[in-house]
Formats: sequence, structure tokens, C-alpha cells
Amino acid sequence: MNTVKPNAHSEQSKKEQVEGMFDAIAPRYDFLNRVLSMGLDHYWRAKLIAYFNNTHKVLDIATGTADLAIAAAKKLPKAQIIGVDISQEMLKIGQLKVAGGKLDPTITLQQADAENLPFEDNRFDGIMAAFGVRNFENLPKGLSEMHRVLEKNGKLAILELSEPQGFLLKPLYTFYSFMILPLLGKIFAGNREAYLYLPKSIAAFPQGMALVRYLQEAGFSQVAHTPLSFGVVTLYTAVK
Ligand SMILES: C[S@@+](CC[C@H](N)C(=O)[O-])C[C@H]1O[C@@H](n2cnc3c(N)ncnc32)[C@H](O)[C@@H]1O
Repeated sequence: MNTVKPNAHSEQSKKEQVEGMFDAIAPRYDFLNRVLSMGLDHYWRAKLIAYFNNTHKVLDIATGTADLAIAAAKKLPKAQIIGVDISQEMLKIGQLKVAGGKLDPTITLQQADAENLPFEDNRFDGIMAAFGVRNFENLPKGLSEMHRVLEKNGKLAILELSEPQGFLLKPLYTFYSFMILPLLGKIFAGNREAYLYLPKSIAAFPQGMALVRYLQEAGFSQVAHTPLSFGVVTLYTAVK
């Protein structure tokens, strides 16, 4: 797999760079998410959450500012949700939102590395991750950690950005993501590099059947993938 780092010239590991990048953009992250996805990010997360029912012990990997954990808490009122992320600044904003929504008894946020989870085997019956796995330094390690902490028959759902195909959409997408997106990132988040890393990391990341194979190699079964919004996002589902 071709690994893309936010800054190819830096000596820092991808993980250190990713953590620093999200720490830096954290205050503008939610706003930019809404703008760049044209409001579709809520719809994509709702599609992921719809995969779960009767799930009680949920882990939200790469929870960021906790949007997925918060939406999951509303759909699964009986669930206890733990959100983990490496970026302390993203978590701080998530914590404010959790407290503001009076969801503290339901959602716990903690700093942790998805590639080295601080949980015992078979701890959760549902694991979710939205727009996080693409940033892992070691994808197979991250997926095998998800498999380890999920109980037998537990469900996994991953949302990840992908590249739409088709002779009209593909050039449009390429223009938007490599030209417009970094410009918007610069204007609204003061960080062109972070929003140039975004399309580069999408292009380098295994998509569709390629990610399905990684999930199968990590031990998951019933692995399926569903393109959403003409393939700009893909929902992956699996069972342990
Ligand atoms: C694009 S944000 C997604 C946040 C959130 N899930 C959402 O839907 O908005 C990606 C997040 O992945 C986190 N991340 C990247 N690598 C990670 C790792 N190895 N362990 C935990 N979190 C990680 C980043 O810190 C960042 O908050």
C-alpha cells in the first residue's frame, strides 16, 4: 500500500504528523466538514449507524470531535459508547459537545491509538469508524486491533472517502478535490496542506474490494461495501 503522509518532507512518522495536523485544524474541523461535504456528512454517518441495532457496547474509532458517537447515542439510547482518538484537541471539542448535549453518562472520550487499543479482547459488540482508517500508519494493525476487541458476532462499520468513477464524475471530482478543496482549506482553516493531504490520501488508500480484502485478512466475515453519493464515500460493513 502506498502510504501518504501530510508532509512528505518531514522526518516525523505519519502518526505524529496526523496527530499534529488534526490538533491544528480541530477548531475549524466541524465547520469545514459541513462546507466541504455540502452537509452530506450527517447523512453518511446516519447510514453507518443504521447498520447497528441492539448494540450495547460501542467503540467509535478515530472519534475526532465525536459527531459519530453523538449521532450513535441518539439512535442507540441503551448503548454505552467509548470514543478514542489520538488528537487531544479534537477530543477537547468533542468533550464540549458531549457535555453540551448532556450525553456524558453515555459517551466517554479518551485519547488512544487505534493501532494499539487499551481494551481487553472481545470488549465491544459494535465498532464504528468514520473517516479515520485512511489516516492509520499501519492499516492491517488497526484492523486487527478492531477485530481483537470486537466480540464474536459483533458488528463493524467503516465509512471512508473514496474516488467516484465514471468518465464525467472522475474529472469533476479530481478538479474539486485537488484544486477547490485545498483552497477552501486555506481560506477557512488557514491550512492548505491539510486539505491537499485529503485527496492525496484518498487516492493512495485501498477502496472497494481492495479494502474488503484487508478486512477479510484481519479475520472479518460477511464483508460488504456500498458506495454512497456516487462513490465519494463508501460504507464497509462486516461481522466478527
Ligand atoms: C477525518 S477525522 C474523522 C473524525 C470523526 N470520526 C468524524 O466522523 O468526523 C480523522 C480522525 O482520525 C484520528 N486518527 C488518525 N489516526 C488515528 C489513530 N491511529 N488512532 C486514533 N485516532 C486516529 C485523527 O486524529 C482524526 O481526529
